[in-house]
Amino acid sequence: MTDMLTFGTEEARRIERTYRTPDVIRQRRIVLDTLALQPGEKVVDIGCGPGLLAAEMAAEVGTQGHVIGIDVSDSMLTLARSRADVESGGIVDLHRATADQLPCADNSIDAAVSTQVLEYVEDVAGALAEVHRVLVPGGRLAVLDTDWDSLVWHCTDRPRMARILAEWDRHLADPYLPRTLLRTLRQAGFDAGPPRVIPLLNVGYQSNTFSACLIDTVASYVVGRDGLTANEAAAWSHDLATLGEDYFFSLNRYLFIATKR
Ligand SMILES: C[S@@+](CC[C@H](N)C(=O)[O-])C[C@H]1O[C@@H](n2cnc3c(N)ncnc32)[C@H](O)[C@@H]1O
Repeated sequence: MTDMLTFGTEEARRIERTYRTPDVIRQRRIVLDTLALQPGEKVVDIGCGPGLLAAEMAAEVGTQGHVIGIDVSDSMLTLARSRADVESGGIVDLHRATADQLPCADNSIDAAVSTQVLEYVEDVAGALAEVHRVLVPGGRLAVLDTDWDSLVWHCTDRPRMARILAEWDRHLADPYLPRTLLRTLRQAGFDAGPPRVIPLLNVGYQSNTFSACLIDTVASYVVGRDGLTANEAAAWSHDLATLGEDYFFSLNRYLFIATKR
């Protein structure tokens, strides 16, 4: 059973802060380099969140190009709209839409990207069929997701960590999506090879890192689940944040690049 994380105002702001850490800036750079956008291309960002990637893609496709960002969360779209207004000069269009109903014509999009989104989607095959519909033949798709089994997170109370992470696993439709995604991509009509691994590694506690920001998101999600109290979540957060040089966090994300057959 999942109890998917939804992105209201507070969660959207927390995610935006997380996505401005050097860890996630580096991840976006790798996604952009892999996608290799060309000036004038038309690209869709599926589950665009706060719009950081959409703004960076706008700079690459330029004024002759077009970026369409879609998301189900109004709070995320508000953040993405203010970023697009300030940074992207009319190249980014944002829509409230779901991954299985893209506001794009058949065979009209050169490239599509979806980072940290398909793991929230119940019908991944349906979402991939929809991307396949809108891409031009030969169009590229970049998909990035996390396998939460790859997590190594040092703490002083392993039973408490296990309870918290068991609840956290429920925030996604599939916390282990990458291991089955290659087959699903191929079945949806894409050519794709093995993914590239993008590790997130934080050694020694520092506040401006992916995992330090994640602590707040996890703590806020788990309170009230499986009897976890605010005090237990706070004690877990405090434990991690005070490990100093013993702090150790490692998590793998997997980047797939596929092309429409
Ligand atoms: C973890 S955030 C990732 C945001 C962005 N892709 C990034 O990497 O910066 C997940 C986003 O996916 C959106 N989302 C979840 N399920 C979705 C669906 N079925 N269709 C469209 N967006 C969805 C959420 O609202 C949220 O903004």
